[in-house]
Amino acid sequence: MPDGNVIVLLKDVVAGYQTTGRGWRSLFKHVNVVLRGVNLRVYDGERVAIIGESGSGKTTLLKVVLGLLKPVKGSVEVLGKDIYKLPWRERVNVLKQVGYVPQDPYKALNPKLRVRTILSEPLESAKAKPEEVEGRVREVAKMVQLSDKILDKYPGELSGGMMQRVLIARSIIHDPEILILDEPTSALDVSIQAQIIELINNIHKKLELAILTVTHDLGVAQYLSDRAVILYKGGVIEEGYIDDIITRPKHEYTNLLIASYKASI
Ligand SMILES: Nc1ncnc2c1ncn2[C@@H]1O[C@H](COP(=O)(O)OP(=O)(O)OP(=O)(O)O)[C@@H](O)[C@H]1O
Ligand SMILES: [Mg+2]
Repeated sequence: MPDGNVIVLLKDVVAGYQTTGRGWRSLFKHVNVVLRGVNLRVYDGERVAIIGESGSGKTTLLKVVLGLLKPVKGSVEVLGKDIYKLPWRERVNVLKQVGYVPQDPYKALNPKLRVRTILSEPLESAKAKPEEVEGRVREVAKMVQLSDKILDKYPGELSGGMMQRVLIARSIIHDPEILILDEPTSALDVSIQAQIIELINNIHKKLELAILTVTHDLGVAQYLSDRAVILYKGGVIEEGYIDDIITRPKHEYTNLLIASYKASI
């Protein structure tokens, strides 16, 4: 296992979504459990993948890490702080160190804002000096290979790959310690997927941050991670180095994942 500081640490996390029944049942709140005691560690600068089929709880797990869904049991530490025990303002400060690229680029960008505004908004709300905002926007745009011309466009004028570049630029705007990506290539054309994978790996090298990628695709995990965990029905069933998992899977479900991956290439 890698050494260094732990950036994200989940201990026995149980989490899910509240439901209320109809009629008199609406008086009782019930949690539909999705994550069933998940443990996860991401170290400084490493690349980790969470692999699982649709509905296994991948996005739910990310919501928990991003401070958006409080677990019913267990703890979530980000940069050594138990985020759900922090006052709101401190939690926001810790989570500024976490960059996030959501699952669907087509839905994630406000269609009414130009790219320049999308990138400058997080800086402005963090009270950056106005004279520094434009410089930083250009800097991150350059890092993801977006031209100045693109900064004046609206999301609807961009291709899926360009939108994903904008989202990646926005996610690194505060120079985070970790970048979390939810299915970063699955909404994109095959020809664009490799470019986005290369971009993420370049950012990993350049900014020396940790990368946590969620994917249902073993191929993507192989390119974007060194270590991986397999999530099945809300539980971690296997973890280790990605190459070891692929060559020597321990769990029957992992075997199935590998077989379907090999059939697809
Ligand atoms: N906001 C919500 N309210 C209630 N249930 C939800 C909510 N979001 C997700 N779920 C349920 O939680 C389970 C896990 O969903 P989740 O989105 O975490 O899966 P996923 O692994 O990210 O799937 P996908 O690969 O399709 O994105 C599913 O059964 C889903 O229906
Ligand atoms: Mg998801």
